Amino acid sequence: MTQPDVYLLGRAEAEEIRLKRQIANLAPDSDAQFDKIGIKLGERVVDLGCGPGGVLHLLGKRVGPQGSVLGLERSGHFVEQARRFVNDHGLAHVEIREGDAYDTGLPRRSFDGAHMRLVLVNVPEPERIVREMVALVRPGGWIASFEADYFAHICDPPLPAWTHLLDAYTAYTRTQGIDIFVGRRIHRLFREAGVEDIRVDAIMHVYPPGHDRRPILRDFITNVRDRLIGGGFITLSELERDMADLERHLADPDVMVTSHMFFRLIARVP
Ligand SMILES: C[S@@+](CC[C@H](N)C(=O)[O-])C[C@H]1O[C@@H](n2cnc3c(N)ncnc32)[C@H](O)[C@@H]1O
Repeated sequence: MTQPDVYLLGRAEAEEIRLKRQIANLAPDSDAQFDKIGIKLGERVVDLGCGPGGVLHLLGKRVGPQGSVLGLERSGHFVEQARRFVNDHGLAHVEIREGDAYDTGLPRRSFDGAHMRLVLVNVPEPERIVREMVALVRPGGWIASFEADYFAHICDPPLPAWTHLLDAYTAYTRTQGIDIFVGRRIHRLFREAGVEDIRVDAIMHVYPPGHDRRPILRDFITNVRDRLIGGGFITLSELERDMADLERHLADPDVMVTSHMFFRLIARVP
């Protein structure tokens, strides 16, 4: 089946800025996951859907210059950004290649480990990417997956506009075959792909006023605004009214906003 060449969240400048901030925002959570794997100096690892940088610096540091990291990314624009990112970090042993995680064309069983963060929550047919990812790793090698599940993303006090916007977003992603609650399923997807010694944990955060990620729902809606209206998931006037309500709510220091639930999985390839 051919994949629509559309990244759910678009490639506008705002999404690029969001992804660059995400590099620092999520680094401690990814580093904690890497601690549990025991990645060794000299390993050869691959990161699928690395975006403009993702965890390439964290992996590059762990495998050292005697090892190597390959970042695979479908968007040519993010490939350029990622190349700049590794260059800025002086990581000559990190290579970025343009490619599709559904069908990487990379040699089977050729990596010591494979990582993927926040790709499955944006794509249809996540099971195909999972199978491809597992096939790239040698027997005894490791797998690390970090995925979101939107169920934990709430505000309190509740806001009708929040629910309305999230419902429109969920309905839109469903029509694209995308499961924004995929995080809870990753243990199953990887088990079905044949990995062993699966360990999963889950983390969530509270985003206080001023936190980069507090307005993430607003940012996601903005990214797909035209598609929500064009597809009839919400009208322009409803969207404008809800976004104004949301903006006011986010600015209120007495409102609590939580992150998505992030499921982190590590496993071994038999
Ligand atoms: C939310 S971003 C995550 C980026 C990075 N992994 C991180 O955690 O910061 C998702 C990335 O996956 C990429 N992507 C989506 N589908 C892909 C595919 N089929 N093959 C390769 N990359 C893909 C997007 O272009 C985007 O850069």
